[in-house]
Amino acid sequence: MYPENNNEMNNEYVNNEAVAPVYAEENYVADEVTEVTEEGAPEAEKDNILVCDGLVKIYKTDDVEVLALQGLELEIERGELVAIIGKSGSGKSTLLNMIGGLEKPTAGRLYVDGNDLFAMSEKGLVEYRRKSVGFVWQNSGQNLFPYFTALQNVEAPLYFDHMSQKERRAKAMGLLKMIGIDHRANSYPAQMSGGEQQRVAIAVALAHDPKILLADEPTGAVDSKTSNMIQDIFRKINEEIGITIIIVTHDLSLANKVSRVIMISDGKISTEKIMKEKYRQQLDNMTTESLAAVESHEEYSILDKARRVQLSQDALEMAGIDSNKVRVEVKDGKIIISK
Ligand SMILES: Nc1ncnc2c1ncn2[C@@H]1O[C@H](COP(=O)(O)OP(=O)(O)OP(=O)(O)O)[C@@H](O)[C@H]1O
Ligand SMILES: [Mg+2]
Repeated sequence: MYPENNNEMNNEYVNNEAVAPVYAEENYVADEVTEVTEEGAPEAEKDNILVCDGLVKIYKTDDVEVLALQGLELEIERGELVAIIGKSGSGKSTLLNMIGGLEKPTAGRLYVDGNDLFAMSEKGLVEYRRKSVGFVWQNSGQNLFPYFTALQNVEAPLYFDHMSQKERRAKAMGLLKMIGIDHRANSYPAQMSGGEQQRVAIAVALAHDPKILLADEPTGAVDSKTSNMIQDIFRKINEEIGITIIIVTHDLSLANKVSRVIMISDGKISTEKIMKEKYRQQLDNMTTESLAAVESHEEYSILDKARRVQLSQDALEMAGIDSNKVRVEVKDGKIIISK
């Protein structure tokens, strides 16, 4: 029933999707982005740290199959800070777990920092998780060992590295300082507020110098002031160490502050919002409120490799489209979809 490989998926499975086809370019080259080199890594002009190509994830429980990701396509450049938003159940955590090597895709291709995660062995994935990715979860209890102090928590991932105790301590302390939580170095998680614990968790996630930092609802359990502080830390470490950061969030104030916001709907990227250049330059001087009051981002629909675009329910309703047949015409250089 489901595709065995990516080609099959692109040709048959995804084509069954109820999305409107839009032919934007006559000379569209289907394999432009994912041309594979001899080594198997995708050839791309941009320095993409992440490439998802036709990513499918199916969860099977008893007799029920859930399609959590439905041919998702996404590229993220090295050093980007992006937010992923979407309704509950849209596949955000599934995508993050897959990028983090915690789960394997059912079909499609997934490359992170040149690693082919789909083809990787279990042993390879363990090594990948240890070296390449850092995680921050919503629940700080998931991030920290309760019987370790903040400092010991940050030191813990460094035990596997060949470091003296002094070096370990110095590195962990340096990270706590960078995050501005070094005054809590000797506190245990239970003695810290939720926001403080999350800041320690960010230091823990950075300890082994990962290439990519993944955060699933990192501000989901804190108040708005603390959330602002955590958002600023993400931006600071993104700027200072240039690490790629992907944050899944429901928090629109966080999404407003990042330059690229990716919206997932039904296991696929539906739209992207890109911050307008003039706001990006002023970002440090803008409050969350002033950003929310202006149209800081431009919204784009995503055209996938098979030239399809997903239309939102709101857009369909506003255009009075209530069936699965639409007219598509090109007029004055524009594509018009109507009833
Ligand atoms: N381990 C699992 N077994 C079975 N189904 C799963 C599993 N994990 C996720 N799903 C299903 O996959 C779909 C996507 O789930 P996912 O957790 O990625 O959503 P989400 O966008 O992170 O939602 P939320 O905002 O509520 O966290 C949902 O329908 C969910 O029920
Ligand atoms: Mg989730």
